[in-house]
Amino acid sequence: MIDVQNVTKIHRRGALEVHALRGVTCRIEQGSFTFILGPSGSGKSTLLYLLGALDEPTDGVITVSGKALGGMTTRERDSFRREEVGFIFQSFNLLSNLSAVDNALAPFLPRGVAPALRKEAIDLLARLGLGDRLTHRPNQLSGGEQQRVAIARALLKKPKLVLADEPTGELDSENGAAIMKDLRTLCHEHQSTVVVVTHEQEHVQAGDQLIRIRDGRVAA
Ligand SMILES: Nc1ncnc2c1ncn2[C@@H]1O[C@H](COP(=O)(O)OP(=O)(O)O)[C@@H](O)[C@H]1O
Ligand SMILES: [Mg+2]
Repeated sequence: MIDVQNVTKIHRRGALEVHALRGVTCRIEQGSFTFILGPSGSGKSTLLYLLGALDEPTDGVITVSGKALGGMTTRERDSFRREEVGFIFQSFNLLSNLSAVDNALAPFLPRGVAPALRKEAIDLLARLGLGDRLTHRPNQLSGGEQQRVAIARALLKKPKLVLADEPTGELDSENGAAIMKDLRTLCHEHQSTVVVVTHEQEHVQAGDQLIRIRDGRVAA
């Protein structure tokens, strides 16, 4: 589904150049549950953001479902990111003034939310164990609950591709394991391809694909 060919990324900070990716080639199969594993600073987040067209490579080609991201117009890339990709971040990135339901619906709010979609959001939050937290604001929710809202937000559009950057990084191990289980179940139902960045191996299960990154290169 995703083909990464010889991708490099240089971050420029003033005169300073950081070579975050130094020629990465890998494949992510359709419907797979793929982990990008590696130590802090190895380039995992950089690679994930490139896969979701949140950023552009310095060199190399990323092809998603046969379409090269670099060959798309800005408008095509925007619609790919908005309609086909669900992002989940380590720090949840919820809007503090919105309820759990409205946070889950946030990507849709500018265009208006039909009652059927609001019901879908409520049903999804209920499946994630938040049926009695629907009107709570983020600061009234635990870390695990906030990440479940963020998962609902990412999955509500039924994305083909789910990209998660250290989604359990701010949670204790019990909560982290529960979140990963829910993510697996829901993404399996939606037949989404899932890519999870982590620096730990504890969530890896038999059948998962692994991409090990070290110093901006694929190590295995
Ligand atoms: N926006 C940026 N500007 C400058 N340097 C960056 C930027 N993003 C990441 N880096 C640097 O690129 C390297 C890889 O970072 P990152 O992809 O975030 O690694 P990881 O997610 O594996 O911890 C690091 O040295 C980091 O400091
Ligand atoms: Mg990172």
